[in-house]
Amino acid sequence: MPELQRLAAAHAAALLDFERQNRVYFARFIPDRGDDYFASFAERHAQLLADQATGSDHFHLLVDDDGAVLGRFNLFDVAGGSADLGFRMAEHATGRGLATAAVARICDLARDEYGLHRLYASAALVNPGSLTVLRRNGFTAVGEVVLSGRPGIRHARDLAPGVSRSGRR
Ligand SMILES: CC(C)(COP(=O)(O)OP(=O)(O)OC[C@H]1O[C@@H](n2cnc3c(N)ncnc32)[C@H](O)[C@@H]1OP(=O)(O)O)[C@@H](O)C(=O)NCCC(=O)NCCS
Repeated sequence: MPELQRLAAAHAAALLDFERQNRVYFARFIPDRGDDYFASFAERHAQLLADQATGSDHFHLLVDDDGAVLGRFNLFDVAGGSADLGFRMAEHATGRGLATAAVARICDLARDEYGLHRLYASAALVNPGSLTVLRRNGFTAVGEVVLSGRPGIRHARDLAPGVSRSGRR
């Protein structure tokens, strides 16, 4: 059963594998990270953990039973009770509802663990999978954006206290 885990130092190797194995897939939907990302992965991983320690970001991985990373779900630019959400799934794990379920869990964590009351997320119009995940989790359009030259939609979701869309409370 895949588990959502807060990013830790021990995830480095599995996360690098995930990014390497899915690089071509991701580039079909979102900007490629570039060769430098892979060359300086260790330093970047350490920086993410340092940022997370300040509370400016909360990074999570969806991890399979065998330790493989299936997806990453990140809250970044935390400020004033809100944050931006970004996510990506391993190609082989898509189409099973895992991203929809993980975003639901992230929304619960954002409210219950991190004290946030509003999340934002943007997706390109050419990315119907991402748009579907957001809308199924109660995100609604709040404006238009340009994402690396492509038109997209910015969404927001209010995180009502004590109300969980996943029905766990
Ligand atoms: C977007 C992404 C996270 C979706 O992950 P996932 O685990 O497949 O998502 P889910 O299975 O929870 O739901 C996706 C839904 O979108 C639908 N979908 C996916 N691609 C679609 C397409 N091209 N057209 C129409 N619907 C599509 C799926 O069929 C599914 O709906 P269903 O349950 O009715 O079948 C994944 O495809 C991904 O990582 N893409 C590359 C990175 C990316 O785009 N990240 C988001 C940046 S904003």
